[in-house]
Amino acid sequence: MAQEDPNKKSYEKTLAELGVSSPADVGKHFHECQADFASHDLLQIANEEDWKAVRDRWLGRKSGVITLITNNWLKAAAPELKRAAGLHLNELKTEVEQALEERRASIEAAAELAALERDRIDLSLPGVERLLGTRHLIRQTYAELQRIFLAIGYTVVEGPEIETPYYNFEALNIPEHHPARDNMDTFYIEGSNHLLRTHTSPMQIRTMEKQQPPVRIIVPGKVYRRDNPDATHGFMFHQLEGLAVDADITFCDFKGTVDYFVREFLGPGVKTRLRPSYFPFTEPSAEVDATCYVCRGSGCRVCKFSGWIELFGAGMVNPAVYGFVNYDAKRVSGFAFGIGVDRFAMLKYGTDLQVLFQNDVRFLRQFR
Ligand code: DAH
Repeated sequence: MAQEDPNKKSYEKTLAELGVSSPADVGKHFHECQADFASHDLLQIANEEDWKAVRDRWLGRKSGVITLITNNWLKAAAPELKRAAGLHLNELKTEVEQALEERRASIEAAAELAALERDRIDLSLPGVERLLGTRHLIRQTYAELQRIFLAIGYTVVEGPEIETPYYNFEALNIPEHHPARDNMDTFYIEGSNHLLRTHTSPMQIRTMEKQQPPVRIIVPGKVYRRDNPDATHGFMFHQLEGLAVDADITFCDFKGTVDYFVREFLGPGVKTRLRPSYFPFTEPSAEVDATCYVCRGSGCRVCKFSGWIELFGAGMVNPAVYGFVNYDAKRVSGFAFGIGVDRFAMLKYGTDLQVLFQNDVRFLRQFR
């Protein structure tokens, strides 16, 4: 008999070498193998890699345990042991294959579960907030002003920012020596007979030139003046012009419209007053004041302890203006007003003029 190698596994030897002579002994060796597989190798499998190693060890074509048993125990068996070896081998092979397949399926299922767990959407997490743009404060203020006037039958017209002195001054009864014409105030366009309009009032003229009374318009738009920038001034600002002309408009209509508008804009508790003023295109002219929105009239720093805040200029249309648009001053009358929209935004939102135009989203975001 060849020298025994103590490291040699039983299936690396033939049954003869193992000294097996009865079918019962054959079964014993098979059972040992089976136990080796079921209570050792199979239990060691923790992941796919382990599984592959055990599969190769047992089912590997060239030198897997099953192949070795087939060669050493079955093929080399003595004829009287072949039947038993064949039966046991089939049994063992089936068991190994089945057990490995079950293990493979459970490893795969666990991996799938782990992947699902990894990809799981946590619906309790806060969502990604997509920032939406909003209308600029000036646009919001315009929208509010327009809502108020559209509700009482006014229509919106717009006009050019580049104007002629005729529309900006002359036809509005602003004489040659009026300070608004001063080149300290007005941007004149070099080498042309044009200027940047200093107010939206030119659209009064352009509108009346084109249409007969009744006229009820508001005119939103940018205007330009040579002001040095500070908390309440800039070289450009926004106005809303208003004009109502008809056959029978009185000072009462004027005051009623002003009251309605101011209360709609600033709130029902606000009172208004008219203070005598001067504009070449209105006669009489007035400054419209409202009770202070901070102290409600009792006096505070915002209203300089007067209880009143100056809102805008207005008045009854000066009959001289009708002469420029071929209206019959004896048959028509009306009123006009010129609202500083930036000033209104500043009053309503308590901000300074410059931040309105710096486009700092941290500021703008507050007014949704
Ligand atoms: N145009 C004037 C300005 O820019 C504002 C104004 C005042 C307009 C009285 C008017 C008005 O229509 O009646 O200062």
